[in-house]
Amino acid sequence: MKPYYQDEQTTIYHGDCHEIMPHLPMVDLVQTDPPYFQPATHYVPTRTQGVPKKSIGDMSILELAFKIWCGDLARLLRPTGTIYFFCDGQSYPLAFTALYPHAKHVRPLIWDKMISYNGYTWRHQHELIAWAEMEESPRIETGDGDILRFRGVMQDDRLHPAEKPLDLFKALVAKHAVGIVLDPFMGSGTTLRAAKDLGRKAIGIEIEERYCEIAVKRLAQEVLPLDAMVNTGYNNDYGTTGQQPETLPGFHGSLEISQAGNRSHVFPAGTIPEGHSRQLWGGTGGSLEGDEAPRHPQSEPR
Ligand SMILES: C[S@@+](CC[C@H](N)C(=O)[O-])C[C@H]1O[C@@H](n2cnc3c(N)ncnc32)[C@H](O)[C@@H]1O
Repeated sequence: MKPYYQDEQTTIYHGDCHEIMPHLPMVDLVQTDPPYFQPATHYVPTRTQGVPKKSIGDMSILELAFKIWCGDLARLLRPTGTIYFFCDGQSYPLAFTALYPHAKHVRPLIWDKMISYNGYTWRHQHELIAWAEMEESPRIETGDGDILRFRGVMQDDRLHPAEKPLDLFKALVAKHAVGIVLDPFMGSGTTLRAAKDLGRKAIGIEIEERYCEIAVKRLAQEVLPLDAMVNTGYNNDYGTTGQQPETLPGFHGSLEISQAGNRSHVFPAGTIPEGHSRQLWGGTGGSLEGDEAPRHPQSEPR
């Protein structure tokens, strides 16, 4: 099976994950965000056409897909492994049911997007993550609550219509010390980028070639030393934390913050690519130097 892309840390396959997964080596962590829309509510324009012609049976499409995919994942995952399976309130029961036979336990985590999208009232502001630990999973020593607060990616900034925040994915991967991370529904490659930034090996699968291309480009962006990139708030996708520039733990050298659209990026000094304007919070260009710094409490993994 020929990968679409491969380097020392990352492998991408282009194709249907159900066909590709049986050929992969064992993995240690699955972090994935599969398609989890409800077919019935997506193909019936409920607001404009009266009584929707939908039935709960339509959910069986998703039920079967989740069952097949979770079976594939369970065969690939080591007994010490963990699965983070993104879903929402409507699809969580199906994710739970599909994961339950394979896991020691399955529990929901809540991702609070900190902004609300779509609709007039009770607007969507959260999604769920079915967290499944396998029979021999070591205990994660965290003490964290099960609500993860990471700002959702604004529509104009997305490389994929369902792109998830890189910081959220990093926080999850960072809880698990070793091994290979798998994302069989990688989209724009957020899991792979998170794994790469944390120095982990990862495998991604994506059925649409255009997203494989996007993921490869994302991986090509330079990785800064670990301590400089993770948990500082400087790699926040928006630069809206309101933080003042401060030094970065463990990083010696200059950094520059640039802005493209609403998204801020951190680069080693002098390497900001074309198309990025050099802007620091408040619109002024700048650079940072660092050695010791307090960590940003909001994105600190414990
Ligand atoms: C919800 S998106 C993932 C978005 C991703 N988390 C990101 O941040 O960009 C799900 C992805 O799974 C892909 N997909 C759907 N069915 C697939 C399959 N059978 N095998 C591999 N990829 C599939 C879709 O093309 C889509 O890009």
